Amino acid sequence: MHSDVIATDHAARLAAVDPLLPGSSPFEAAESAVVLEVATADSAASGLASRIQVDQDAPNAPWRALTEHRLDLQLAGPQPAGALDALLTRWDEHLRAVAERGDTETAAIVPRASRDAAGTREMLHHGFAPLRVIAVRPADRMVPAGPRGTPGVKIRRAAPGDLETVVSLGLELHSFDAQYGTVNLRKGVEDIMAKDLAEQLDRPEPPLWIAELYGRPLGMVNVQHPGETGWISDRVSAGRVGYLSSLAVAKEARSSGVGTALAIHAHHVLDEEGADVVLLHHAAANPLSTPFWYAQGYRPLWTYWQRRPAVR
Ligand SMILES: CC(C)(COP(=O)(O)OP(=O)(O)OC[C@H]1O[C@@H](n2cnc3c(N)ncnc32)[C@H](O)[C@@H]1OP(=O)(O)O)[C@@H](O)C(=O)NCCC(=O)NCCS
Repeated sequence: MHSDVIATDHAARLAAVDPLLPGSSPFEAAESAVVLEVATADSAASGLASRIQVDQDAPNAPWRALTEHRLDLQLAGPQPAGALDALLTRWDEHLRAVAERGDTETAAIVPRASRDAAGTREMLHHGFAPLRVIAVRPADRMVPAGPRGTPGVKIRRAAPGDLETVVSLGLELHSFDAQYGTVNLRKGVEDIMAKDLAEQLDRPEPPLWIAELYGRPLGMVNVQHPGETGWISDRVSAGRVGYLSSLAVAKEARSSGVGTALAIHAHHVLDEEGADVVLLHHAAANPLSTPFWYAQGYRPLWTYWQRRPAVR
């Protein structure tokens, strides 16, 4: 099957399961990416196998394995699961040649449209787990009534003097998520986070808000405005895309409406700026964040399946 046909067939299948997914074009090999193609009796799959390496002190290192092997894929024909199985077998041969066996700083990552069920069982058979999700909240989404909220909670924009608070809340969130394997608690994470948050707090209007109870900071939310989200906006079929970078509530203040108040505030800000959708990442197995986000009007868009180490 020609790569154009595979891309068109794949795009049509995805459009039928989720109107918020972007279209697909045929893969092209690049400096650190090769195209893999397989065919079964009546179906076919195409994959773009790439490798991304970062240093431990890079700004994005806390959120990824230091070496990521990634497979973007397209499936075509009446038996997409079989074609995926063959593609993963082909990719495994490739990985055995290029990845360090047993190194937990390597990860094999397969982004899949969350609603594309074809081949899910085959992903498990090849040792992948559905680890991280990009969730989407359309602007006009109705949300059911949530918790009543704690009286006295005030939400205010963060200022440079809040650096210690936001770093501490950010680290609490990062340590919690690290248990689920989506982020990494390595030496130097605090410095990387502090540098990024200090830069954000130095902006004339920092995109961070603090929840305070009687003057005590208990939670924070951090957003990226439409116009700053070019790094992720091509994952969704929408014009203006907002991104919710993080939301954290101090352990002693959870389950009392503080998180909901912060999320409502962030959505209000992004709605005012005309965002058609808001995206965020969360760890699928996090028992606090997953139900919380789906109660705030989000739903899964992309699921990032991961195997770590990339080769056992
Ligand atoms: C996820 C997190 C931000 C949620 O913040 P929170 O302040 O605890 O959330 P809220 O209190 O506003 O909302 C949850 C509570 O609302 C209540 N609630 C939910 N739906 C409700 C409804 N329909 N009606 C009434 N109450 C409801 C529940 O009491 C629920 O708490 P519970 O699950 O412990 O029973 C917080 O748990 C946290 O910081 N977790 C660790 C870090 C993290 O995972 N952050 C998210 C990163 S992606």
